[in-house]
Amino acid sequence: MKGINHTGEILYREYLDIVRDLKKYLERKMNGSSSDNLSLLEKLYREVKNCQRCSLYKTRTNLVFGEGNPDALVMFVGEAPGKEEDLQGRPFVGAAGKLLRKAIRTVGISEKQIYIANILKCRPPKNRDPQPEEIIACLPYLKKQIKIVKPKIICTLGKFSTQNILNTTTGITHLRGKSFTGNGGEIIIPTYHPAACIYRPPWREQLIADLKKVKMEMDKILSGV
Ligand code: URA
Repeated sequence: MKGINHTGEILYREYLDIVRDLKKYLERKMNGSSSDNLSLLEKLYREVKNCQRCSLYKTRTNLVFGEGNPDALVMFVGEAPGKEEDLQGRPFVGAAGKLLRKAIRTVGISEKQIYIANILKCRPPKNRDPQPEEIIACLPYLKKQIKIVKPKIICTLGKFSTQNILNTTTGITHLRGKSFTGNGGEIIIPTYHPAACIYRPPWREQLIADLKKVKMEMDKILSGV
């Protein structure tokens, strides 16, 4: 009797697993499948990983494609990989990244809900500013990532990201604290670059205030308001 109950329990758990997998599969199929987005991003990565569209390929250790949830509600867009990102091939893993990731957690956003990418996929030598020809060469990759992930919110980090996403030359101090609407209807929320916040503690509070706005918009979308 005991054996039968035990076997029954195992079968029941297996049944629940199958139901859960089936539910996930159907949700993905009906909502524009996360597995589709994942494979599209993987396909794009294969196209991009050996890129030589500008001279930065000569000095990179790794191309930093981007990472996160392929179905993210929010995408964070930075400027370009720094030293640590170049070494690890992952965005925002150095000092600025630690500040950013902590700030994101502080406002209650889970890293599982986000996707992070940069305007440039390769590190500019000595972290110099991105050059116009590098941005022209690399921006189409970010645009493709945005088209695949289709985030409802884009949080632009710093001058280069904000100006290129909003297609403006206005300075970041005039743009942050405001919200914009992108061509695909997404909400664009500019904020300071976390690296700048390391040296300007008052900007950290503004970064947090902007991220709280991101969280508020996420909550509105998730609750269907
Ligand atoms: N700064 C950025 O803009 N992006 C990174 O990935 C790291 C630092």
